[in-house]
Amino acid sequence: MAITSRTQVGIIGAGPAGLMLSQLLALRGIDSVLVENRTREYCEARQRAGMLEAGTVAALRAAGAGKRLDVEGLEHDGIYLQFRGERHHVNFRELVGRTVTVYAQTEIVKDLIAVRLAAGAAIEFSASSVAVSGITSDAPVLSYVDASGVAHEVTCDVIAGCDGFHGISRPLVPGLSVYERSYSYSWLGILADAPPSTEELIYSRHESGFALYSMRSPEVSRLYLQVPADERLEDWSDDRIWSELQKRFGLPGWSVSEGRITDKSITPMRSFVAGPMRHGRLFLAGDAAHIVPPCGAKGLNLAVGDAIVLASALSALLTEGSSALADAYSDTCLSRVWRATHFSYFMTSMMHVLPDDPFDDLIQLAQLRYVTGSTPAATSLAENYSGYESPRIEM
Ligand code: FAD
Ligand code: DHB
Repeated sequence: MAITSRTQVGIIGAGPAGLMLSQLLALRGIDSVLVENRTREYCEARQRAGMLEAGTVAALRAAGAGKRLDVEGLEHDGIYLQFRGERHHVNFRELVGRTVTVYAQTEIVKDLIAVRLAAGAAIEFSASSVAVSGITSDAPVLSYVDASGVAHEVTCDVIAGCDGFHGISRPLVPGLSVYERSYSYSWLGILADAPPSTEELIYSRHESGFALYSMRSPEVSRLYLQVPADERLEDWSDDRIWSELQKRFGLPGWSVSEGRITDKSITPMRSFVAGPMRHGRLFLAGDAAHIVPPCGAKGLNLAVGDAIVLASALSALLTEGSSALADAYSDTCLSRVWRATHFSYFMTSMMHVLPDDPFDDLIQLAQLRYVTGSTPAATSLAENYSGYESPRIEM
């Protein structure tokens, strides 16, 4: 026999979207139960994003999860674009009056979990058999088996599917339209105990492939290399990784500082948008509904944006009985998602190298010259990168 209970919002997934949503709902006096199938340790250690738009930083602060971010986050005025041995700075602060901040997704997840648990929130880590029923009724049910093997059935007003790309929520939306593009390359990402030799990120297009120089702190570097889509991690020794990075970033008198590699992984590249992001009383948010290729740093920012829009919509629905924002939720989010999908596609196709394609080579070069030489073109890049249409938290 399952233990039965009731909450207002059942949330699936303790990533940035689900945690932010549960925090924003709590600030509005709405209770939720959050169910996650991994352990807390796993969620807090999963290496992913690191670059936050100005609006995401403001949202985390407004949500009460900005204390450590304000101390440890690295505020950057812009990025460098490198090609053909030239390195150009694109200054967002000057161009659009906004900055961006490096602060790892692992730290955001830790901060949000800590804030939620300190407020006495219900987060069920290591849940199994997570399932949803009755999404077209007024009382959908979120069921799961907890870490100690006890079955639960939680009756909710609404369920939020924040369970990432491989979750159970998206397949529950009938008649979903899916728009997709896959790319012929992946990213090999490393984390290294090495003080970054650059103060701001470098996006480098080299004839051997794209490379991105990012960081996590003044002591830790985060670097990515374009590799073929079917590449095997075993084929990349630490020595091979460092020598490829030196080659792709190399400029006379400048080199990448090396150190112990502490994490190594390969991420495929995909654009994916599914809609509508709602069916009945089930709402999708974040990677559950859309994925962008990482070049341009939009995924986490989109997930936080969805959570902000959804929190306002659910608050109006559950406290005032007003369904207008909930009815507009999918369209509101998808408009921002498609803008970011275009920007990520634009950055990806400008920076990555296709083998034996001289046409593409010269088109990319023309585009790189344009965005580094023309103020209007640089302004457009700066506006998109630092956050176009970031939703604000209204309490
Ligand atoms: P997730 O973080 O995937 O969270 C979903 C959660 O749901 C997970 O904890 C998962 O365990 C849980 N879950 C799944 N299935 C179930 C189930 N059945 N039951 C219960 N729980 C379930 N974005 C940026 O904005 N900036 C960047 O710089 C950036 N860089 C990136 C670099 C890399 C290498 C990668 C891979 C991604 C990057 N991204 C970046 C994208 C970003 O990490 C994601 O978009 C973000 O994690 C999405 O958050 P989410 O909460 O929607 O999903
Ligand atoms: C990071 C990842 C990105 O995809 C990006 O465009 C910028 C930064 C990062 O992990 O730091």
